[in-house]
Order: sequence, then C-alpha cells, then structure tokens
Amino acid sequence: TDSMLTDSFGRFHNYLRISVSERCNLRCHYCMPAEGVELTPSSHLLSQEEIIRLAGIFVSSGVTKIRLTGGEPTIRKDLDDICLRLSGLKGIETIAMTTNGVVLAKKLPRLKECGLNALNISLDTLVPAKFEFMTRRKGMERVLESIYAAVDFGFDPVKVNCVVMRGINDDEICDFVELTRDKPINVRFIEFMPFDGNVWNVKKLVPYAEMLDRVKQKYKDVRRLRDHPSDTAKNFQIEGHRGKISFITSMTEHFCAGCTRLRLLADGNFKVCLFGPSEVSLREPIRAGVDDLGLKQIIGAAVCSYAFFNLPCCLVDILFTSPCTSIYSLLNTK
Ligand code: GTP
Ligand code: 5AD
Ligand code: SF4
Repeated sequence: TDSMLTDSFGRFHNYLRISVSERCNLRCHYCMPAEGVELTPSSHLLSQEEIIRLAGIFVSSGVTKIRLTGGEPTIRKDLDDICLRLSGLKGIETIAMTTNGVVLAKKLPRLKECGLNALNISLDTLVPAKFEFMTRRKGMERVLESIYAAVDFGFDPVKVNCVVMRGINDDEICDFVELTRDKPINVRFIEFMPFDGNVWNVKKLVPYAEMLDRVKQKYKDVRRLRDHPSDTAKNFQIEGHRGKISFITSMTEHFCAGCTRLRLLADGNFKVCLFGPSEVSLREPIRAGVDDLGLKQIIGAAVCSYAFFNLPCCLVDILFTSPCTSIYSLLNTK
C-alpha cells in the first residue's frame, strides 16, 4: 500500500474498474444510439499485456478489487485469460464483472475457473417485449438464464442492476423484489442518470424515496441493513427473503464522499471520477517505453489532482443533488 492511490480528500482508492471493450451486443436507449457508439481504432485499445501490466501496478499499490466492465466485457475474446492473469496478482481479493448477461451463461464455468468471483448483471425489465424496446435487441430470457446460472454456480450474491425509469419499468419494482425471495440475488434499483446524449429527463427519474415507498406498500417488513462506507448502494432486506434489495441513489443522495473507485478505459485513458471531465492517457507513456516508476508517478499525479481538476463531489452536488440550489431541483419545478 502506498500513497499513489490516496487523493487530496484523503480517500484511498482500492477499487479499479477496467473497461475491456467499448463494444456491446445491446443498444440500451439510456446508453447508446441505435447505430452504436463511435469506436476507438483497435490499435488504440489496450492489449491484454498492457491491461495486466497496469493492473499489476495498481494492485501492488493497494488495489484489492478489480471490476471488468465495458461496453460489454464478455465480447472480449481473451476475457478468461485476463481473469486468470488478474487472479495471479499478489494482493487481489475480488475480480468482479458487470455484464448485460446476454451471452454469459455458457461462459460462466470457464470464467469462474479463471478466478472471477463477483458478478453484477444488468436487467431492467422482466417483460421480453419491453426488453426488446429498451435494448433494441432480443434476449431477456437469456439474461434471466444467466442470472440463475450464476446462482447455481455459487456466486453469492448475484447482483442484478435495474435502472428504473418512470413510465417504462417503474411498474415492475415489486416483480424484481420477488427475485430476492428464495435466491441469493441482490436486486439494485438504480436512479436514472443523465449521460451524453441519452435524452435524460427528470420526469423519467424515480427518486429513491419513492421507489422505497412503493416497496413498503407491498412488503410490510423492510429492514435497512448496514452499508459498507464505499458502497454505491443503500441496502435493505425483506423479512424472510433470502436475497436483498438496494438503491443506488446517484441523483438524489450522492455517495462521492465514500467513493474509492478508479477507472481505466478501453483506450488506456485513466479517469478518477465518472463525472469528472479529465482523463490522462496511460497508453501513450506505456507505448513510449516508460518504466513502472514513471507510470506510478503519472497515476499518482492524476489521483492526487482529484480535488483541483475534477471536483467530483462538488460537481455532482451542484449539478444534481443539493436540494435547494441544484439544477436538479430547478428541473423538478418545471
Ligand atoms: P459493486 O462493486 O458491486 O458495489 O458495484 P458498483 O455499483 O460499484 O458497479 P456497477 O458496475 O454494478 O454499477 C452500478 C451502478 O452504480 C451504475 O449504474 C452507476 O449508476 C453507479 N456507479 C458506479 N460507479 C459510480 C461512480 O463512480 N459514481 C456514480 N455516481 N455512480 C456510479
Ligand atoms: N443511468 C443509470 N445507470 C446506468 N447504467 C448505464 N447507463 C445508465 C444511466 N444513464 C447502468 C447499466 C449497468 C451499470 C454499469 O450502469 O444498466 O447496470
Ligand atoms: Fe450500454 Fe450496458 Fe446497455 Fe450495452 S448493455 S448498451 S453497455 S447499458
């Protein structure tokens, strides 16, 4: 553990998200236009070797959890090798993946063998036709199969990420809660967030308080659980249910103060905050032949400059979450 990963707020970042592919086999409206996103030329994508080298530097500096993300990570052909090599890094505890689950079921045995030990699967609806509308592709049944396959393979919990949008899937909240009745499934209801060009609209945002109310109307005994300080989610459990439900309140109650996440994008850009505009390329110095110490200095400088250049908490706060002054509340009164 060293100071490379401590930022100017004193937060120690031990959780690295690595995007291993920009491509995706779905076209969710909230994430991508119908034609897909503009892809980085493949010569500018990190190779397996480069990913492992960078991951090694992060892990030797104190990162204990790596999450593989995308786009859709299962699109990457060498995903199993990446997991295997990550699991060989000394000090790593968790190798997690966030996936849409469409082609996961048949890859699961191999991925588990290679060291994958935590799974978040995104599913926003349990109605096949609605899935096709929301993602512009078929596949709801396959995602559900993957969720059950993950449970059968012993992933505990299997987290299910459900982005809730008013008028689209907010009528399904209690159906999702039912997934937690007999299985170690943790359904996480996510507040819809604005991203570039996703036609975000405050009317589509269902605030956490409202989601929780709806759950409480049907389930009488909803217990609040203790959350981990760096958790994105507020956790609850319905009395008698095997699994849990959670709310990711990115919009109405931000969790920046406890955030310990770092991001490595598929093109080798390094980012300290999801909302922060600044990115620093690690691919360019790597290909220019920099040694590990040089990389550590670049990473350390980016992490440390957090407060001055990214202002993550303040930005999110000002834009979305402080109730009296924020744009969120201005929009809300329209
Ligand atoms: P766990 O490690 O299992 O807690 O997963 P996670 O929540 O960190 O990651 P996941 O990929 O499952 O993302 C779920 C949701 O969390 C996303 O839809 C985002 O809404 C939110 N999220 C993840 N990282 C960040 C972040 O750094 N900032 C904000 N505001 N939201 C984030
Ligand atoms: N708002 C909230 N969550 C989103 N995700 C993607 N776009 C948005 C958005 N605009 C979710 C995906 C996935 C996770 C990584 O992020 O559904 O579960
Ligand atoms: Fe985007 Fe994920 Fe949907 Fe793919 S599955 S389009 S990456 S939100």
